[in-house]
Amino acid sequence: TVKAVIFDLDGVLVDTAVYHFQAWHRLAEGLGYSFSLVDNEQLKGVSRIESLELILKWAGAKISDAEKADLLSLKNKWYLELIEQLSPDHLLSGSLDLLEKLQKKGIKIALGSASKNAMGILEKTGIISYFDALIDGNVVQLSKPNPAVFLKGAEALGIEPACCLVLEDAQAGIDAARAAGMQVIGIGQAEHLNGADLVVADLGALVDKF
Ligand code: G6P
Ligand code: MG
Repeated sequence: TVKAVIFDLDGVLVDTAVYHFQAWHRLAEGLGYSFSLVDNEQLKGVSRIESLELILKWAGAKISDAEKADLLSLKNKWYLELIEQLSPDHLLSGSLDLLEKLQKKGIKIALGSASKNAMGILEKTGIISYFDALIDGNVVQLSKPNPAVFLKGAEALGIEPACCLVLEDAQAGIDAARAAGMQVIGIGQAEHLNGADLVVADLGALVDKF
């Protein structure tokens, strides 16, 4: 039985994945690399620094640590500009209905996101009060597929991993949930979500399961 649901943020609850893509695309352009949607799929769920390392590798660019730090703050500056107008309108289909339903059923709710911008996004979209535990990229540095972000969530809720269900839109996140010994449902297209117990198009499809 499921006693807790741990939500990924970007691409699961909120439609921010497109803004990460736009900011990385702009950054890669400056490196002379044409960053594709296929590339972007590999960055979903992956921390900011590890994402940059991958892009530098694909671009064949060798730069200093100081230059890396500059690029990281530039990417985040562009990303923050893109999400400045974020509002409840950017919640993905079914987000609110599912959060409401879980709360009503007494199922614990946690966030398990790699993003350091997670708190601001939850506030702008008005859903922060639904969460019993918030684990983000400031709390856990180890990037998915490392299970740390989900294990910390379970620990904070006081629920054993086997009774936790993770909702994820990224392959790295599915792998992290599996490594944590949790159940996992993929949100999106099955071809990008190998190893999920189930894949659905959006959170709305899950409301009646609880
Ligand atoms: C999530 C997103 C990634 C993003 C990462 C770090 O996992 O799926 O695309 O790179 O968070 O986000 P941040 O907001 O800290 O740059
Ligand atoms: Mg995601």
